[in-house]
Amino acid sequence: MRTLCAVLVFMAVCLVNGHCLDFKDQLVGVKRPSWIFPGSLEDQFARLVGLTKYKKMDVKTVEGYLDKLTIKDELKSRAANLQERAICFTCQALIRKLQTHAITVELLGTTICSIYFTIQTWTINDFCKQIVRINKPILEYILANSKILTPEYACSILLQNENCYYDHPALKWETIIPDGGPILTTQNTAKLPPRSKPLKILHLSDFHISQDYEVGGVANCGYPVCCKRNLGNPIKGTDAGTWGEYNCDIPPWLYLDALQYINNTHKDLDLVYFTGDIIDHAIWKDSHQDNSNDIRFVFDHLAQSFPNIPILPTLGNHESVPLNMFPPPNITDQKLSQAWLYELIAELWSKWLPNEARSSVAKQGYYSVLANNKLRIISLNNNICYIYNWWLLYDTNFLKEQIEFLKRELVEAEANGQFVHIISHVYPGEKECIEPWEVNYNSLITRFAHIIKGQFFGHTHTDSFKVFYSKIDGRPNNVGYNGASLTPYLKYNPNYKIISVDPNTFNILDVDTYYFNLTEANLHPYTSPKWMKLYSIKEAYNFSDLSPDNFDIFAKRLSTDRNLLDVYWRFFVRNGDASLKDGCNDECRRNLLASITRTESLA
Ligand SMILES: *[C@@H]1O[C@H](CO)[C@@H](O)[C@H](O)[C@H]1NC(C)=O
Ligand SMILES: *[C@@H]1O[C@H](CO)[C@@H](O)[C@H](O)[C@H]1NC(C)=O
Ligand SMILES: *[C@@H]1O[C@H](CO)[C@@H](O)[C@H](O)[C@H]1NC(C)=O
Ligand SMILES: *[C@@H]1O[C@H](CO)[C@@H](O)[C@H](O)[C@H]1NC(C)=O
Repeated sequence: MRTLCAVLVFMAVCLVNGHCLDFKDQLVGVKRPSWIFPGSLEDQFARLVGLTKYKKMDVKTVEGYLDKLTIKDELKSRAANLQERAICFTCQALIRKLQTHAITVELLGTTICSIYFTIQTWTINDFCKQIVRINKPILEYILANSKILTPEYACSILLQNENCYYDHPALKWETIIPDGGPILTTQNTAKLPPRSKPLKILHLSDFHISQDYEVGGVANCGYPVCCKRNLGNPIKGTDAGTWGEYNCDIPPWLYLDALQYINNTHKDLDLVYFTGDIIDHAIWKDSHQDNSNDIRFVFDHLAQSFPNIPILPTLGNHESVPLNMFPPPNITDQKLSQAWLYELIAELWSKWLPNEARSSVAKQGYYSVLANNKLRIISLNNNICYIYNWWLLYDTNFLKEQIEFLKRELVEAEANGQFVHIISHVYPGEKECIEPWEVNYNSLITRFAHIIKGQFFGHTHTDSFKVFYSKIDGRPNNVGYNGASLTPYLKYNPNYKIISVDPNTFNILDVDTYYFNLTEANLHPYTSPKWMKLYSIKEAYNFSDLSPDNFDIFAKRLSTDRNLLDVYWRFFVRNGDASLKDGCNDECRRNLLASITRTESLA
């Protein structure tokens, strides 16, 4: 979906120029989107849409496609004065054309695909049109039925961080924060020696299992993801390794190997957190049947590997069909709703959850559960806030239900002297979650910081953390941990984490990352990958404890110490050879630093 939006931005620049040259110059003096990199036009476009192989663009052909959308003259006339808003008004013009039936969803979608294919190296595939086909009924429904959709509103969401923002009540609502305040003294009690054995929590994230993974398949296939049966031209070389590739999702046997290794190695686990994403990145092939099979496969094997401990999952944005679609509960039409998904997980997760949790899981995929009489785990389906969830163009009221749920659970935990861990998929502050969700979520973190002992996310596949700051006095008050990913996609080594928790204060004592070298593993196809510990936060960074204050001090050190930032980055990619080959340039470093302290995308 990011691909489609990138094409939109790209088109805006082409349209305003009247041609697609001077892409780079066009943006001089203008606030450049952070993901536009220097290089040739094709280079830039390829990076926007995540292509590793691409060909020279035929500018005339691209212009021909743009003519079909009939907005060129309109934009050119506005472009002279309003150059810096080219992206926004292109987006708005396209939405207006859709609303007035001057163009169809199909035409817009296929035009975007065609532009994509003028630079993409394979012409035989139809995956982009397939993506349009599966999204079309939803977009058409929303265009016809949304009571809040205006061009300005739509582009505020779709291009949230591209300066297209526009105030709308649907994007500005605040939950009432209960009286009382955070009492932050308890955050530092980790200094007391634990009175008994720490709790051990396994944090797994982002599996992205490729059931049709083919050893010796085409690893350089020209599609967004490779190593699949019948995907790509074998002339390009059939070299997909046994244990995965840096541009592919994982073979199912790697998932099973990881479970077995963990089962054999960590005999003292008390809990498992899984922060979502089971389905692979071949998003054009998603179907209810295949997704259901994959989801069942994952939870059946998790249950077999860890028969005696609770497994606490969240949904990922890849689980729905199509990708990212999490409609409000009053959308009950079978072709539009995700009831099949919620019913499936309500069934599969029920063995780990109390009965009361079943109804909220069946309704919208969230729940709360007591791990013991002191620790409450709140699992949110925050995929609903994702800017590529088209349903936000229809309604944002349904997001309040989970914010209110989170608040109720926190109030209750506080009243009962309990501590809380929050698990969810989408990593906040990464410019991908709409403002009202992040603002309200952060207000609740500020209010309840003294009982929230950890937040655990996934989605970005990066081994990283975030410092949360109080909205009242700006002090560091909480930490969010990203579990990174089992999939090496894109350019990472697979990993999992072990979290140690003080059994009395529920403070996090340490987090260990385990991984293996994918290049090395593929040299030994007949033996299991050599899993090993990469680092622990406490040891690697000399923390006295994992308090928010120490993370804050560390974040400040990172901004002045290049070598230390390099250490952080190597852990971020788990020494993935493909990432190390690219290196982390100044832009990458800036993004790395900014992400650590950003928990609201628009702040
Ligand atoms: C995991 O280990 C336990 C014993 O610790 C065993 O009962 C179980 O069968 C194992 N599961 C797998 C899939 O290896
Ligand atoms: C669903 O609820 C929203 C308000 O939250 C409303 O605008 C919309 O019309 C409702 N849709 C249906 C199909 O009832
Ligand atoms: C991973 O293994 C390969 C093959 O043995 C080796 O060349 C490479 O240097 C290793 N990568 C790292 C980061 O150690
Ligand atoms: C941690 O402390 C050790 C020993 O004092 C030192 O060698 C190392 O450089 C320190 N690491 C960091 C990240 O500060």
